[in-house]
Amino acid sequence: MNKTPENLHSRATNKPMRDIIADRSRRSFLKSAGATLGAVAAQGFVGSLFSTQAYAKSAQSSLQFTELTRIYDKMHHVADGYKADVVVAWGDAMKAGQEAFDPAKIDAAAQADRFGYNCDFIAFMPLPRGSQTSDHGLLCVNNEYVSPNVMFADMIEDDAGAKMTEAQVALCNMAIGHSIVEIIRKDGVWSVVQDSPLNRRITLDTPMTISGPAAGNAHLKTSYDPTGTMAKGTTYNCSGGVTPWGTVLTCEEGASDTFGGSTEGNPEAAALERYGYDGSDYYGRARFDARFDMGQEPNEPNRFDWVVEIDPYDPTSTPVKRTALGRMSHEASTVVLNKDGRVVVYMGDDDYFEYVFRFVTEAKYDPANPASGKDVLDAGTLSVARYDADGSMTWLPLTHGTAGLTAEAGFADQADVVRKARLAADLLGATPMDRPEDIETNPMTGRVYAVMTKNKKITQDKLNPANTRPENLWGHIVEMIPPGGAGIDADHTAEKYGWDLFVLAGNPKDPATGSTFSPDTSENGWFVNPDNLTFDPKGRMFVSTDGANDFDIADGVYGVDTEGPARGLPKLLFACPIGAEASGPCFTPDGTTLFISVQHPAENAETLDKAETLWPDFKEGGLPRPAVVAIQRNDGAEVAS
Ligand code: FEO
Ligand code: CA
Ligand code: CA
Repeated sequence: MNKTPENLHSRATNKPMRDIIADRSRRSFLKSAGATLGAVAAQGFVGSLFSTQAYAKSAQSSLQFTELTRIYDKMHHVADGYKADVVVAWGDAMKAGQEAFDPAKIDAAAQADRFGYNCDFIAFMPLPRGSQTSDHGLLCVNNEYVSPNVMFADMIEDDAGAKMTEAQVALCNMAIGHSIVEIIRKDGVWSVVQDSPLNRRITLDTPMTISGPAAGNAHLKTSYDPTGTMAKGTTYNCSGGVTPWGTVLTCEEGASDTFGGSTEGNPEAAALERYGYDGSDYYGRARFDARFDMGQEPNEPNRFDWVVEIDPYDPTSTPVKRTALGRMSHEASTVVLNKDGRVVVYMGDDDYFEYVFRFVTEAKYDPANPASGKDVLDAGTLSVARYDADGSMTWLPLTHGTAGLTAEAGFADQADVVRKARLAADLLGATPMDRPEDIETNPMTGRVYAVMTKNKKITQDKLNPANTRPENLWGHIVEMIPPGGAGIDADHTAEKYGWDLFVLAGNPKDPATGSTFSPDTSENGWFVNPDNLTFDPKGRMFVSTDGANDFDIADGVYGVDTEGPARGLPKLLFACPIGAEASGPCFTPDGTTLFISVQHPAENAETLDKAETLWPDFKEGGLPRPAVVAIQRNDGAEVAS
């Protein structure tokens, strides 16, 4: 989701890092960093930092496809030689005997068994479990939030929370969460297996276990769960991750604006404010359910904003909120199996001036014994990133009893540290970032890429080495370089990494942007507001964007080399219809399909009757429907070719 509407998150801004050198231009930064970088390289970091060879003249992308000419209209578009077919859309049937979607018949009961709204993160989980099958699997898709202004007649975005009927709110509550559908490809066409017993909806009502340090903590106990160990439902499921043992991680990106009521008199009011809980009740839930009224259930907010683990292969399994991974506006949770067997999870906290986090498990995972992954995410070290001007970065552990994280400072135990991870990170001097979104690892190089989508609130006095532009409307991508070597040799558990700014986004023809794409980037290739990333099997980055509509261009998907002469040269592959963002890019194991979520088409319209597109059905009197599309080459070869 593009949470830029300022009413969605109105908390006080975080303090910028105190000891970072502010107001340092990129050029002087590089110059002064040179000596240290030599030392960093000598310690075994991959390649050279800030390489000028990246910008050699007339660079050719390793991606040979003919770039899509930029276009922004009611349709989706894909580059010549490709097709982009809708696989599944909001309201589609997921059970035997269900009729096709009918906007007149969708209600909460129907929605509970149909594909959810505003698709985001996608995981393709091959069938059978543990295989590398690329034409049969489970499509596991986050349904982040709803867009009432284009779901219901006469509803404007800002009034929906107060105006929606109980039935409309109930429908919305069933339309969010996560959808799991079995899909199969025959003759190059993907379709849903409508009667699969593995099809499953997870909603705001689905029972979930709470595990890890905050399980059973007093601050997580409510009137309906006095144990603090059984949550109800999930929301704002944005991006996510996949574990080596075949589960899906879905990330709760901040439930703050879905709660009503007041925090007055709540001893934890300051912490709730830091997490944005201002009682805005953006989806009307508190009007019909005391669970979402903070005056009546003051601890319910503490049961959201976690990473949730789902076993998609067992439709009877109970999802688990893994509190050891910290509480924040979780964008993504990218999992890397480190060479030593420990499991590493990279996470971004998508809000203004928030942080980049990492979790390293205490126990090791044994790929020969997938059961060893069960509960391995419940114990380990959560850390937060500090990026220094010398090109090094440090992971600062958020461990109770260390570095000032004590009862005197407001952290009674590790449960407090994970529940208030943002406040703990403040104390440690982590680097405030320009809204950290997805973080992904290049499987070939082992380098890790963290997306900063944008930060209109950053001013000159708040700049730091990793966030270098005041009023950053365009976003950028930070490259993190673990020591140890490339690929599997990269040590994702190290305390210190190297880092670089991979690209600063923006239109290269507008000098005000200061963008740093390869100079050979075409008119069609530059992008703004990167959000999600993935890599093809050969290690080329694919970026999806969220926010380009503000620049009168379509959000879309771009392929980018991260290595070689065309480093930082994006090419446009796919463009969304009006109002939509592209999210959740996900390849099949063989790289022949790239799934993309087309989220919130037409949402930019004030009201439904003004919708500029009824994508993808275009039926008179119908509704725009968020949907997952499958991008494939017409010749069936790998998408990234
Ligand atoms: Fe849901 Fe941070 O995008
Ligand atoms: Ca976003
Ligand atoms: Ca996102």
